[in-house]
Amino acid sequence: MQPDLRITLPDDWHVHLRDDEMLEAVAGHTARRFGRAMIMPNLDPPITTVAQANDYRARVLDAAAAASGDTRPFDPKMVLYLTADLSIDDLIRGHQAGSVLAVKYYPAGATTNSASGGTSIISFKPVLEAMAEHGIPLLVHAEATSAELDIFDREAAFLETEMQPVCEELPELSVTVEHLSTAAGVALVRSYANTSGSITPHHLSCDRSDLLANGMRPHLYCKPVINSRTDRDALRAAAVSGDKRFFLGTDSAPHPLATKEAEVVRAGIFNAPYALEVVAEVFYQEGALGDLERFVSINGAVRYGFEPSDKLIRLRRRSEEEVAKDPPADLVTSEGVRVRMFGVAEANLWTIA
Ligand code: DOR
Ligand code: ZN
Repeated sequence: MQPDLRITLPDDWHVHLRDDEMLEAVAGHTARRFGRAMIMPNLDPPITTVAQANDYRARVLDAAAAASGDTRPFDPKMVLYLTADLSIDDLIRGHQAGSVLAVKYYPAGATTNSASGGTSIISFKPVLEAMAEHGIPLLVHAEATSAELDIFDREAAFLETEMQPVCEELPELSVTVEHLSTAAGVALVRSYANTSGSITPHHLSCDRSDLLANGMRPHLYCKPVINSRTDRDALRAAAVSGDKRFFLGTDSAPHPLATKEAEVVRAGIFNAPYALEVVAEVFYQEGALGDLERFVSINGAVRYGFEPSDKLIRLRRRSEEEVAKDPPADLVTSEGVRVRMFGVAEANLWTIA
């Protein structure tokens, strides 16, 4: 008997939808598969005010409605980018009005469009104190940027030098360590009561040998970089554990093919179309399909103060005899720009409706 299950409609607690023609091309993929999505603010220039967040949300909704051809309500949750210019009053008003859910910290230089980021989280202490007081979560890209540090050690280094002091000085602040990539990240989340961690499909399904061992795979390159098998297995254990502090954030991040197959490759994996198939296959391999719903549909919603959706989706694993669907491997924007999709093999194994 092949698995055939119904679960609550999932949410994606970390996604990059970009803007303009790329937004138009990708928004429907997220809107079709997820009830809510936490929309990352690393546009160029970044989203730093509530007015910008409101305008961006309207563009996201327009693009999603135009593309999805679906009447299912899609609820983008907006995030402000933490910079020295962020106004505490604007943030608090926007949060109270429901326009902005959270604030994102990027270490300057760590990843795509992070140039406006910071060099020390704790230097934003007045903002963080206001966030703690008003229940506004801090989302953190947890990666040290020092050129001295080995690329595979950067998450663990950041946790020690930046994240722990914040968790200790501001225990009331709700912190999500985004796209956990190491066993050290899982351990940090487990050791502070007010922390949680989002986990991506690609960090659950791949390790750095997949990235580097059989030819270098630019489409598996993201930040934080996919790490060791031991780290992958710690992430899997956290995801299937049912622990409510771990939940899905796809970090789906589209880049034009030309910038992924280049001399210098940009970081980011576009996984929105098949993210659920990839995660379902991981849970299947772990013998943990019974815990899938908690990870993709319940834990994150509860963490951010929402009721899980009242809608259901059905996931069915294909039997050996069923013919592969051969789903598309590339998305093509209205201007003819191609973007490679992650998870085609898993999309052949699973049917989701
Ligand atoms: O790989 C990544 N790509 N990691 C990030 O943190 C940002 C993202 C992007 O925006 O492309
Ligand atoms: Zn991201």
